[in-house]
Amino acid sequence: MRLHWSLLFLSLILALPLRIHGTVGDRCSADKDCGTGQHCDSCSNTRQSICTRTSPIDPETMGTGFAFNKYSWLTTHNSFAISGQSSATGSALLSPTNQENNVTSQLQDGVRGLMLDMYDFNNDVWLCHSYGGVCYNYTAFQPAVNTLKEIKTFLDENQNEVVTIFIEDYTKIGSIPSIFNSSGLMKYWFPVTEMPQNGSNWPLLSDMIKNNSRLLVFTSKSAKQAAEGVAYEWNFVVENQYGNGGMVSGQCPNRAESSSMDNKTKSLVLMNFFPDNPSLTSACSNNSAPLLSMLNTCHSASANRWANYIAVDFYKRSDGGGAPLATDVANGHLVCGCDNIAYCKANATYGTCSIPPPPPPTPPPPPSPTSPPNAASVFVTNKFIWFIQLTLVAVILLS
Ligand SMILES: *[C@@H]1O[C@H](CO)[C@@H](O)[C@H](O)[C@H]1NC(C)=O
Ligand SMILES: *[C@@H]1O[C@H](CO)[C@@H](O)[C@H](O)[C@H]1NC(C)=O
Ligand SMILES: *[C@@H]1O[C@H](CO)[C@@H](O)[C@H](O)[C@H]1NC(C)=O
Ligand SMILES: *[C@@H]1O[C@H](CO)[C@@H](O)[C@H](O)[C@H]1NC(C)=O
Ligand SMILES: *[C@@H]1O[C@H](CO)[C@@H](O)[C@H](O)[C@H]1NC(C)=O
Ligand SMILES: *[C@@H]1O[C@H](CO)[C@@H](O)[C@H](O)[C@H]1NC(C)=O
Ligand SMILES: *[C@@H]1O[C@H](CO)[C@@H](O)[C@H](O)[C@H]1NC(C)=O
Ligand SMILES: *[C@@H]1O[C@H](CO)[C@@H](O)[C@H](O)[C@H]1NC(C)=O
Repeated sequence: MRLHWSLLFLSLILALPLRIHGTVGDRCSADKDCGTGQHCDSCSNTRQSICTRTSPIDPETMGTGFAFNKYSWLTTHNSFAISGQSSATGSALLSPTNQENNVTSQLQDGVRGLMLDMYDFNNDVWLCHSYGGVCYNYTAFQPAVNTLKEIKTFLDENQNEVVTIFIEDYTKIGSIPSIFNSSGLMKYWFPVTEMPQNGSNWPLLSDMIKNNSRLLVFTSKSAKQAAEGVAYEWNFVVENQYGNGGMVSGQCPNRAESSSMDNKTKSLVLMNFFPDNPSLTSACSNNSAPLLSMLNTCHSASANRWANYIAVDFYKRSDGGGAPLATDVANGHLVCGCDNIAYCKANATYGTCSIPPPPPPTPPPPPSPTSPPNAASVFVTNKFIWFIQLTLVAVILLS
């Protein structure tokens, strides 16, 4: 009987450290306290630090045998406007920023859609966050080719990955081919002539990988398609309103340039969900329940099609699951007909779902901006658990 209880204690002891590591929503004091694809996030000190997701589940875990438009990809809005960077002109940067980490790191987290604003500037093409179509030193981040080279390196090193670039294009004819050429990315270019017209399916992801056509590029300037072979985005994609106009609960209107969301002659659906003025703290709440709610709203508005691209600011910020969770939900419906790709079964018929795992941990305590950061209390908690464990070990050994 005594041995029995000792074993029970021992298993408790072994279980404790597992319980305090790596579950979304758990308190933490550093990234290492959290699981893979998560980080420890206090949402800029507006609340207790908790483990928050940074990466969606890779939908390729369910195979690459579906048409490209049957997958959903986490997308960063203004991927290049990164906090804490200075302008490569040497000038101070006055532009607002939308992300926290560089494009290489975004790609490593599983971001597969990048929104890049390109301007002719300083006899080159620059990533710039400007107004009136003109770039200034104090709104210019860096030459676009630098970021394109990061994408090239990623595609070189990850031969099963497909990346999509959405160019908000302020450049003249000829600028874009020139920088893609010098970036080395042309070998991955998916030709516009192969893109599906009139709403038919895209090629299978596996065929795109096999053919090495792993870079999709869309421009916002219609003339570029005929002139340069860069696909005009809204010939192939429907997209909802960006900014505040796209954040009204229960509505998913198309942006002016796009066909209506339910127009099925375009095979890809892009959902924007970010405010006019990017804000890290807003992202914490906006990327949580409201994002999931809009995903459903846009699904209904888009003739029951789930978003292929989910575009947000500060993609790592949320109350736990965030934009990575929204991507998993879309992929679940697209790939296997389940509410989350985590519920898909390998090689099962569409609609066969595994029993959902237990519900996520209780939501974190409400924001308390006045309370100090809680690193110290997490440390105390961890120390306390060790104290209990040591005591239990002592009790068992002495008994
Ligand atoms: C803008 O930056 C360039 C360096 O890239 C510098 O030569 C130029 O003088 C700057 N212009 C202004 C108006 O500051
Ligand atoms: C991107 O960020 C990571 C992590 O901060 C850093 O190690 C890396 O050098 C950066 N890469 C580029 C190309 O800036
Ligand atoms: C692309 O680069 C090659 C050299 O690598 C050059 O010969 C060609 O003119 C370039 N094309 C464009 C459109 O810039
Ligand atoms: C596009 O598809 C619609 C309905 O599926 C069909 O009526 C129309 O003729 C097609 N147009 C072209 C150009 O193929
Ligand atoms: C496959 O790659 C070749 C060579 O780059 C290209 O000509 C062809 O259009 C590609 N096909 C598809 C479906 O991407
Ligand atoms: C879909 O969009 C095309 C333009 O790209 C338009 O010609 C067509 O009438 C639209 N169809 C519907 C049903 O709105
Ligand atoms: C976005 O976040 C801000 C700040 O928390 C909040 O005021 C706003 O209502 C949120 N919008 C939506 C649509 O969730
Ligand atoms: C799913 O099918 C693939 C190819 O048909 C096979 O290689 C793989 O082992 C299967 N996976 C499972 C879990 O049955």
